[in-house]
Amino acid sequence: MPDTLAEMAVDVLTTADGRAKTAKSRDYAARWFAARAAGAPLPVGRAMPPLRPSRPEAPALLDPRDVPRRRPGSPEGRIALLHAVAHIELNAVDLHWDIIPRFAHIAMPPGFYDDWVKAADEESKHFNLMCDCLEAAGSHYGALPAHAGMWRAAEDTVDDLAGRLAVVPMVLEARGLDVTPGMIEVFRKAGAQDAVAALETIYAEEVGHVAYGSKWFHYLCGAGGIDPTPEFQRLVRHYFKGALKPPFNEEKRAEAGLAPDFYWPLAQQSGTGRDR
Ligand SMILES: [Fe+2]
Ligand SMILES: [Fe+2]
Repeated sequence: MPDTLAEMAVDVLTTADGRAKTAKSRDYAARWFAARAAGAPLPVGRAMPPLRPSRPEAPALLDPRDVPRRRPGSPEGRIALLHAVAHIELNAVDLHWDIIPRFAHIAMPPGFYDDWVKAADEESKHFNLMCDCLEAAGSHYGALPAHAGMWRAAEDTVDDLAGRLAVVPMVLEARGLDVTPGMIEVFRKAGAQDAVAALETIYAEEVGHVAYGSKWFHYLCGAGGIDPTPEFQRLVRHYFKGALKPPFNEEKRAEAGLAPDFYWPLAQQSGTGRDR
């Protein structure tokens, strides 16, 4: 049984099966918060995270160009969409645990660890919810191929905490806020109440993850006397290949502490310019 938060993180990262990974993740999160509530916090400690997390044998991981597209209006299309979200959530579980041991050499306040443990716990719930929906529809996680390369952002920012925060919560998870309402509509039209409820939970909790990213990015910039807006743009241009795609969910992004002047200068303006 691991004794430190960093060891717990490595145990989650090196567990391959999705349901087993999320069970450990939720159990360790509960242990962390119980110890915090009892006034006897567990040590963060040090442990060496793997360069890449362990993953199950299925799904096969394919280049995004080779993942078959299915019509979103069809039952197969909806299963493919749930499967894609499950894959994103499993990756997110690993991303949030990875940040803890990866950057344990940088002194951060206890709230930093609270936020990422809470986010990892929520991603674990999200993965389980998507698996439940897939199984209710006669499928399961692993039944379809999934995108390879989702760990790329983690590898690229392996030695840059501000870069990790800029790219993972503030770009990738913020993108989730942009696209989730459209997904909820797809399932609402199909009368799939379980998927609607699961995606609404995900949508509400993802605002928090983007907010944690923004909070700790601003903290690091403030500690270093760095202007956060140009620094965010510099880091995203350096680590994230390609422009950000409007339309943006400006309201939810603002709720998460992402101001429009952060991300609009990084957007591809052709065709879908800002409509104001
Ligand atoms: Fe999530
Ligand atoms: Fe998230």
